[in-house]
Amino acid sequence: MAASFGLASALSVVVLGDESGYTATQHQKMKIAGIEAMWETEPAPAGFAVFGIPDIVNHKTNYEIKIPWMLGLIATRSLTQEIPGIKELVEVSKVRIRNGILAYDALQKLRKDRTNEVLKKQFQAHEQDLGYGLLVKRHHDPVVGASDAQINQAAADTIPNVAPLFWSFRIMVGLGLFFVLFFAFAFYTSAKKRVMHYPWFLRVAVVSLPLPWIAIELGWFVAENGRQPWAIEGVLPTYLATSSVSASNVWITLIGFVVFYTVLAIATKYHFKMI
Ligand code: HEM
Repeated sequence: MAASFGLASALSVVVLGDESGYTATQHQKMKIAGIEAMWETEPAPAGFAVFGIPDIVNHKTNYEIKIPWMLGLIATRSLTQEIPGIKELVEVSKVRIRNGILAYDALQKLRKDRTNEVLKKQFQAHEQDLGYGLLVKRHHDPVVGASDAQINQAAADTIPNVAPLFWSFRIMVGLGLFFVLFFAFAFYTSAKKRVMHYPWFLRVAVVSLPLPWIAIELGWFVAENGRQPWAIEGVLPTYLATSSVSASNVWITLIGFVVFYTVLAIATKYHFKMI
């Protein structure tokens, strides 16, 4: 039962993971470029880097080993659609930041002059880039009047933390493929009623217990870290979405939870000892 359920689950995770990659390519292009440490746009269909050492400073990936076509096929399901690289996406961000500043400017002025049709038109023309304009607020608070250097800096902020992203994704996918092989073996040997003849496999099963948890944490890291600096891609920068609750309040709550659950754990232990 466990082996068949495990095999079905492991296969579903690979299918769902593939689907997540496809969806992210449509809506979170920088995340995909970051996961792949793909600095330059490659001709379609792009290759998938099985190994590489991302160099964040010089914007290149050293010792890359690529499987040709694979990324293009997985991420776009086509042989002709290009996947933009990080540098190209940064250039796109610069244009969108400039447009976003115009939208922000119009919005500020509209607050004082709500019926101004010229301002309304200016806002509507660049509305979809407002979020990009907000990225500048971190470097130049009035947003409007940001220098080229500040705009470039805001555009550079759109590059996620490439190296940990690259490795977290590969370890997650590696574990996903391991689970398929693991449960295929478990299923086959259990169906033949021979699983007990492989004590080494049972040992592997025990030491593998934490692996799904590790894969989940890495997946979560890929999803959340990969979308930085956005809380909502292209709309709301994370630093503007943070809560106003102070750090000391967060500490007090966290300590409260730890103390509360520790007391519960101790009480439960003594309770079971007594009965
Ligand atoms: C071939 C195997 C796998 C592929 C291709 C894959 C692909 C992906 C991709 C592309 C994402 C990012 C989705 C996004 O940001 O929108 C992701 C996230 C995630 N993955 Fe995987 N994955 C695989 C295996 C696994 C395994 C084995 C686990 C756990 C047992 C796992 C757990 C997760 C979790 C928890 C997330 C975060 C979901 C979220 O917060 O939205 N993945 N995966």
